[in-house]
Amino acid sequence: MKKKALYPGSFDPITYGHLDIIKRSSEIFDELTIAIVDNPDKNPLFSIEERKKLIKKVVQVDNVTIDTFSGLLVQYAADNSFQTIIRGLRAVSDFDYEFQMSLTNRRLGNNIDTIFFMTDEKYSYLSSSIVKQVCRYGGDISSFVPDEVSSALKGRLK
Ligand code: PNS
Repeated sequence: MKKKALYPGSFDPITYGHLDIIKRSSEIFDELTIAIVDNPDKNPLFSIEERKKLIKKVVQVDNVTIDTFSGLLVQYAADNSFQTIIRGLRAVSDFDYEFQMSLTNRRLGNNIDTIFFMTDEKYSYLSSSIVKQVCRYGGDISSFVPDEVSSALKGRLK
């Protein structure tokens, strides 16, 4: 049976930190689905379709597919027969929230498991929010996001 996993997130926008997790997890699982959450409450900079297009441009891995979802993650997982969620952990500060989410998802989602990848140390400080902030004030974001994402950010924030 093929081992498949779900990598959910806001990806507003995708960064090198996300790409590192995608590369490493797609080498372990037979199929990886990147699931972009459609959550207007978070007031994303990019629409869900824009985020999807950006991810498509920068992720070209055979066993990785990109999808979107709204509502509960565990519902999406059940509807699509996923039993494993992937998340990245950057620092201790991520732990509380991730631990809470993983236990809640386990309770709600038929014992669905979350597997955590420790982010590569070069990306341990990186987040989509920081990248947006640096870009907004004209800082150099070339080491944080691929060129396609950088252009989209500059276009949106100018
Ligand atoms: O990239 P993010 O913003 O850290 O991702 C958070 C995400 C999308 C994984 C989380 O907000 C989520 O699962 N949202 C869907 C709604 C849901 O299921 N909430 C309960 C999780 S405990």
